[in-house]
Amino acid sequence: MTNFQVAIDGPASAGKSTIAKILATKLNYVYVDTGAMYRSITLAAKKAGISYNDEQKIRNLLSHTDIRFEPSAPVQRVFLNDVDVTDEIRSTEITNNVSIVAAFADVRSNLVSRQRDIADHNSVIMDGRDIGTTVLPNANVKIFLVASVEERAQRRYKENIAKGITTDLETLKQEIEARDYKDSHRKISPLTQAKDAILVDTTSQNIDQVVSQIANIITSKK
Ligand code: CDP
Ligand code: CDP
Repeated sequence: MTNFQVAIDGPASAGKSTIAKILATKLNYVYVDTGAMYRSITLAAKKAGISYNDEQKIRNLLSHTDIRFEPSAPVQRVFLNDVDVTDEIRSTEITNNVSIVAAFADVRSNLVSRQRDIADHNSVIMDGRDIGTTVLPNANVKIFLVASVEERAQRRYKENIAKGITTDLETLKQEIEARDYKDSHRKISPLTQAKDAILVDTTSQNIDQVVSQIANIITSKK
């Protein structure tokens, strides 16, 4: 049996990981959170005391940076050199600096080959920014998930409140816009909709509605 590949790309906080996780569980596919991999390298730089702009030193880190996912409900755990960094990689500092590290050519080629390796051995739902365009150009299903920036900031805001974190809605919106800008304007594999990706606008759709829309698309391609 050949492996099935679902690629979900889109801007920050569009709901990619939420939707991908639910679909992966339903279909019994491996969920690959590529953003967590870029975040882990960024955290590795921080732990090593390396500046986020130091491309040379970050490149040298790659060969001794092991990133592993462990399925666990309700969140998949992420391990960086065997240390559980699931929460640490979501800090504001890492979120606001990951786009700098993710723009480096060697970081991208190293992580893309790790991502392809997982897809070679499993049926996957992989989410990120360049999955449909670069990582899995022959994916069976490609989704480009979007929502208005106001809606995305609102969702993050509510998520933070649920975690007991107080944030300012306008600051969240600006941080999301700044990250989207950097991700869409970098030289290598910028965030863009693949020609053959299906655009799904989730602005006025709840999670169940999006899951069922994408599940129907997957069924139709099987
Ligand atoms: O979940 P959220 O939208 O906040 O972001 P993420 O998926 O965790 O990705 C974090 C960052 O990693 C993005 O803003 C990109 O800079 C980078 N990234 C990337 O360059 N390519 C990917 N395939 C995935 C993430
Ligand atoms: O992975 P990405 O950054 O694209 O987004 P996410 O972390 O999956 O979703 C951001 C927030 O939006 C989460 O709190 C989701 O529960 C929420 N969400 C929503 O309210 N409605 C949707 N249709 C999708 C996600």
